[in-house]
Amino acid sequence: MTLRSATPHADGAALPPPDAVGLAHSDRLAALIAERIEAGPLSFAEYMRLALYMPGLGYYMAGAQKFGADGDFITAPEVSPLFGRALAVQCREVLDELDAGERECIVEFGAGSGALAVSLFGALQDRAELRYRIVETSSELALRQRDALVAAFGVEILGRVDWLNALPDKVQGVIVANEVVDALAVERFVKRSAQAGDIWQIGVGMAAPGAPSPFVDDALEPTPELIAGVSAVEADLEAPLPPGYASEIGLQVAPWVGAVGASLERGVVLIADYGYPRRERYSEERGRGTLACYYRHRAHDDAYRWPGLQDITAHVDFTAIAEAAAPSNLDFLGYASQGAFLLGNDLTGLAETASAPLERELDRIVLASAVKTLTLPGEMGERFQVIALGKGYDRALRGFSLQDLAYRL
Ligand SMILES: C[S@@+](CC[C@H](N)C(=O)[O-])C[C@H]1O[C@@H](n2cnc3c(N)ncnc32)[C@H](O)[C@@H]1O
Repeated sequence: MTLRSATPHADGAALPPPDAVGLAHSDRLAALIAERIEAGPLSFAEYMRLALYMPGLGYYMAGAQKFGADGDFITAPEVSPLFGRALAVQCREVLDELDAGERECIVEFGAGSGALAVSLFGALQDRAELRYRIVETSSELALRQRDALVAAFGVEILGRVDWLNALPDKVQGVIVANEVVDALAVERFVKRSAQAGDIWQIGVGMAAPGAPSPFVDDALEPTPELIAGVSAVEADLEAPLPPGYASEIGLQVAPWVGAVGASLERGVVLIADYGYPRRERYSEERGRGTLACYYRHRAHDDAYRWPGLQDITAHVDFTAIAEAAAPSNLDFLGYASQGAFLLGNDLTGLAETASAPLERELDRIVLASAVKTLTLPGEMGERFQVIALGKGYDRALRGFSLQDLAYRL
């Protein structure tokens, strides 16, 4: 099964074609995107937003399976409920310290299949006053999340959970975002010369009729915002990026951190995703970019193939998240690999507890293998990282007790 950090290697021509219903769906979305291109090439971020989030048709907004063995990829909470239980250990420490009474809440931003809601809320259910609040842009996924919670805990659970279209005000508790920042739309650029900020912007135009994908890259005059963003990245590197260097930049990350900062009154934000500190994110070896698409457990790099039927992502620049903290009235609290963060939150003990009642050898092996997937460096352990920001919270977080990578940001 494919993790959403997998290196794109599938040959576009060898991807298994969708069925007739899938093709018709993708053609409808492509036709609507094509209408917008009639006025001129779209920016890549605009294309990505439409391909993933156009109401009723975008990848996350329509009925495709997406998550799990029958979908396109798996995320950490889908690998094992131990991920959510370890996160719950961290959340419990914070919630105990905050002691927010009836205002106590966990806000999960972008809850996917609901797997994390089930394991995280499940492990914290004993806290009678805790509310679980899900911010989800996709009403189709919100329904799935509700079904997953009801299947796990019964219909009564709905009295303690609510779904929102945007981050709520005055949160006292923990805001969690797992594998969401990588799904925020990015812009793409190519360095034109060795001079900082001298770039082409990669936009999206129409492909020739009969081409395998409906759209192609098209050069755009870069926007001032993109030039400023790339220049700021380059100012942070040892030298400007070389001519021909191609990459992406997440211009939505800082506004998103700003919205999180405005929402949090008191507590902690935990962001887990795949990516790198800036100097590694924009290293020489990544000079062809980090854009990756996931389709039926194949990772490839044709973002224009079957729009609406595949996920499109890019690796996160964790330095950009840390930089956005102070202007958003948030404090930086820690940064570690996902493996170290989970082990610092007693993953090993939680695995032993889960393993003890298992009678079948096979079930114990599956559990041990999930722990390896979540923590080993070659799996999710290092490619995925956790960063914590906070407001009105100055206690050290146990998730960073084994490792502190802040110096790498
Ligand atoms: C890759 S999935 C991750 C799901 C889940 N967190 C997990 O780990 O399995 C991204 C999720 O973020 C949601 N999402 C993306 N942008 C969003 C936004 N602006 N507001 C709310 N949810 C959003 C998507 O609909 C989807 O549920």
